[in-house]
Amino acid sequence: MPFARHTRLAGLDLENAALLAPMEDVSDIPFRRICRRLGADVAYTEFVNADGLIRDSAKALRKLELTGDERPVGIQIYGGSTEAMVEAAKIAAAREPDLIDINAGCWVPKVAQHGAGAGLLRNLGAMIDVATGVAQAVDLPVTLKTRLGWDADSICILDVARRLADCGIQALTIHCRVRTQGHQGEADWSWVARIKEVTPLPVILNGDVNCAEAAERAFETTGCDGVMIARGAIGNPWIFREVKHRLATGEPLPPPTTEERIDVTREHLETTAELRGERAAIADIRRHLGLYLKELPLGKAFRGELAHARTVEAMTTTLERLRDKLLIVDPVEGPTTT
Ligand SMILES: Cc1cc2nc3c(=O)[nH]c(=O)nc-3n(C[C@H](O)[C@H](O)[C@H](O)COP(=O)(O)O)c2cc1C
Repeated sequence: MPFARHTRLAGLDLENAALLAPMEDVSDIPFRRICRRLGADVAYTEFVNADGLIRDSAKALRKLELTGDERPVGIQIYGGSTEAMVEAAKIAAAREPDLIDINAGCWVPKVAQHGAGAGLLRNLGAMIDVATGVAQAVDLPVTLKTRLGWDADSICILDVARRLADCGIQALTIHCRVRTQGHQGEADWSWVARIKEVTPLPVILNGDVNCAEAAERAFETTGCDGVMIARGAIGNPWIFREVKHRLATGEPLPPPTTEERIDVTREHLETTAELRGERAAIADIRRHLGLYLKELPLGKAFRGELAHARTVEAMTTTLERLRDKLLIVDPVEGPTTT
C-alpha cells in the first residue's frame, strides 16, 4: 500500500523523509552527492570536531566543504562545551549549509568519555545548554542526533525529548540503541512511539533501516517522521530510491543494474580524485568498491586487477573492461547480467 508521511524539516516539506546519516570517512561530498541524486532527502556531513574548527585545523575545516548539487545538506558538529559548540556552529553556519546538527550520540570513548557525543546523555543539563546555545547562535535550523541513553539501565530518551522541545531545535534523530551497544545488537524502535507522545518535535528514526522493507515497517509501526540510513547506504546508495519508491507505490523496485553499479563506482572514484587527488581517491574507493560491485560475477582476475590498481586511469580501464565483459549482448538471451 502506498504510504505518505509528511513532515516539515528544516524549512523543507518532505514526504516519507529518508536521510543520509552522518558517517565518519563515509558521508563525504562524493557519497552525499550520489545519495542525494538517488533519493536521499537530506544528507549530513560526518561529525566535525568543534575544538578543531576553532583552532582552524585544516582537517576539521575540510569537512565543512559543501557543493551545490548535494543540497539540502546538514553539517554535524560535536563537542562537550557550550562555548565551543556555539563558536563552531557559527563557523559551520558561515559555509551556508541548510541545517546544523548536534552530535549527542557518538559512542567512541575518546569522544563520549570527555562529555561530548553520547557523553551528553550523562549530563542532560549540558545537552540542553548546548542545544539552546547553538539554536540561538545561528540563523539556521538546528537538529540533534542522540541515543536512547548511556546504557540499558539509564535510558533517558523520554526526558531528553521532553526537555529538548523548548530549546529551539527543529528535529530529533534517535539512534535506537544505547551508548554501550555501539553499533551492535538490534535497534529498539519501540521507543519512537513513546517519544512522539512527549515531544512535538519531528522524530527521525535511525538504526537498522537497511532495506526498503525495513523503512516501510519503521514508518508504519512507529509513527516516525522520517528515517535516517547509515550502514544500509554504504555500497548501496540505491537504497534511497528503493525506500522512496516502495513507500510511494507499495511496490518494490528492482535492484540496480550492472551499468548503474559501474557508473556509480566510477563517479565516486572520479569525484573523489577531483576533490582530493588520486591517492586519496584510490584509498577511499577501496572502502566502497567491494560493496558496489558485490552482486556482480567479477571473477578472480578482475578482483585482483581492481585490488592492485594504483591510478584512477588503471581502475577506470578495468571497470570499463568489466562492463564490456558483463554486458556482452547475446542476440537471443540479451545481456549476460542485468
Ligand atoms: C562508519 C560509520 C561512521 C559513523 N560516523 C558517525 C558520525 O560522524 N556522526 C554520527 O552521528 N553518527 C555516526 N555513525 C553512526 C550512524 O550515523 C548511525 O547512527 C548508526 O550507524 C546506526 O544506523 P544504521 O543501523 O543505519 O547503521 C557512524 C556509523 C558508521 C558505521
